[in-house]
Amino acid sequence: MNIPFLKNKQPEEALQYPVDHTLDHVAIIMDGNGRWAQKRGLPRAAGHKEGLSTVFKIVKAAVKCKVNVLTLYTFSTENWKRPKSEVDVILRLPKEFLSVYLPDLISNNVRIESIGDLEKLPAHTREAIEYAIARTRDNDGLQLNLALNYGSRHEILHSMKELITDINAGKLSLDELNEEQFSTYLYTKDVKDPDLLIRTGGEKRLSNFLLWQLAYTEFWFSDVLWPDFTEVEFLRALEQFRQRNRRYGGV
Ligand code: FPP
Repeated sequence: MNIPFLKNKQPEEALQYPVDHTLDHVAIIMDGNGRWAQKRGLPRAAGHKEGLSTVFKIVKAAVKCKVNVLTLYTFSTENWKRPKSEVDVILRLPKEFLSVYLPDLISNNVRIESIGDLEKLPAHTREAIEYAIARTRDNDGLQLNLALNYGSRHEILHSMKELITDINAGKLSLDELNEEQFSTYLYTKDVKDPDLLIRTGGEKRLSNFLLWQLAYTEFWFSDVLWPDFTEVEFLRALEQFRQRNRRYGGV
């Protein structure tokens, strides 16, 4: 297999991290944790925990490639339908992740943010995220957006309600409303739309992730299960992105 960014197909330390100024924002649907564990006869929770070290590897790779924003689908509004024991495991992951990796994230100049409805999360999850957000507020490197209790339809509905409230209060005119203004009501108001969406785990669907924001995003699907996803795979996705011809509906 030809991997041009690998010097002579050497191991990981020989990887090159090309910087692409047209790649501002990468979003990832990290799928396949459960299957990774089941394949090994382990409880699904083991797959979620294994997925944490992949998160850190990919964050570091994104830092090296000077990506500005990395948005990770960590817990969706639909994930509440899973057995309570699994929901509890997933909602403990942010705290586990941050208790291990926060010092390294800080030394890599990463700024943590979240999107989603944090109010409905258990206090320990919310507090861990809020602490990390406050602790990394002054960093100006990669923005790591953790999508937690996030669902795109919920986000759009929530935005619509706020927007209508503002129209009724006379703060906004219905006639002048445009896409740009609407975007300022979304959780993602401070970041550009993703340039690249990666989904691991072999499924080819959006699962209610960033439906508005992905209108012109390039998609890259990988069969690799998230705990097995590597920097090499991530760099391959970025390399493929560079070869795409983005026309935004033009010619
Ligand atoms: C989907 O795999 C994965 C999730 C619902 C959880 C994703 C969370 C992580 C990878 C940890 C990230 C944590 C932080 C704090 C960044 P699945 O369980 O649906 O897998 P399956 O399709 O094989 O069943």
